[in-house]
Amino acid sequence: MQTFDFRSDTTTHPTEKMRQAMANARVGDDVYGEDPTVNALEEKAAGMLGKERGLFVTSGTMGNLLAVLAHCARGEEAIMGTQGHTFLHEAGGVSVAGGVVIHTIPNQADGTLSLWDLENALRNPDDAHEPISRLIILENTQNACGGLPISLEYTESVAAFAREHGLLLHLDGARIFNAAVALGLPVSKLVAPADSVTFCLSKGLCAPVGSVLCGDEEFIGKARRLRKMLGGGMRQAGIIAAAGIVALDEMIDRLAEDHQRAALLAEGLRGTGRVHLTKNSPQTNMVFFKLDESVALSTGEFLQAMKQEGVLLMDSGPGEYRMVTHNDITNQGVEVSLEAFRKVLG
Ligand SMILES: Cc1ncc(COP(=O)(O)O)c(C=O)c1O
Repeated sequence: MQTFDFRSDTTTHPTEKMRQAMANARVGDDVYGEDPTVNALEEKAAGMLGKERGLFVTSGTMGNLLAVLAHCARGEEAIMGTQGHTFLHEAGGVSVAGGVVIHTIPNQADGTLSLWDLENALRNPDDAHEPISRLIILENTQNACGGLPISLEYTESVAAFAREHGLLLHLDGARIFNAAVALGLPVSKLVAPADSVTFCLSKGLCAPVGSVLCGDEEFIGKARRLRKMLGGGMRQAGIIAAAGIVALDEMIDRLAEDHQRAALLAEGLRGTGRVHLTKNSPQTNMVFFKLDESVALSTGEFLQAMKQEGVLLMDSGPGEYRMVTHNDITNQGVEVSLEAFRKVLG
């Protein structure tokens, strides 16, 4: 039986073109700055995002970590959402590795951080008791809030706030291309207000490994040193960067298909009458839902029963589940999953 893996877009497999590009990649020692394929990827990514420089990194987590460490000194503070990936799922790296203080404020239902909360989170720079406010982190799309795209206008308003108060703005754009496609905007415009942005090649864009951190020359210089310090200097990394180039050339426009399939899936789920969509989803490639109270299955039982029907999904909190569409989820995958829901939920 074919299995459809809806747990995450990180489960995507590289395309045939990626495999060919990887096999034929020209490589060099990237720690010396001599890998032509890594250099081409970094240049392409920076160009597309409208930033001066790019840096190929192992993962989205490393991109965010380098950004925070490059922007903040020890004892300085980064303000982020309680639903932000950097707070929730990056092992506290910014504090562990950088001595950076995490200051969380709640994400609103639309994924944003309110300007009111940001204002109240600011520290008094003249009070020796307090850490120093240095950075704001926004996430786009906002994963844990529903895969929600965050608007350009809002991002601009936070950037203006940051500038006014001498802070910097980092964008965790792990899925920034999903946001750009959903909002119908060029990605360069969407990230223009941010001082730095990291995006992932290895999620909906299907590359097997890697993210790119982008920003100005000085910032990327610092991040490059930090990457080496953390053991992220990879030698003939062109082998994997080659897939990243194919990802940027060929896999962005098709994200719209993932969004359409998420909408199709959501419509089918509503149709079962036993599922309630949550978190204002779907707005991109993520569908969040809860089962109706009449369903007498524990989380484990439900996930296991779906697995037996060839459908993998994830629980995303008490009584809540997440399904993510991506390149390996076809229309047939959506149909199979809806059939599985009907069977399992009765
Ligand atoms: C919003 C967001 N940021 C960062 C990351 C981290 O990416 P990685 O798994 O490549 O470290 C993820 C991973 O799912 C994510 O969803």
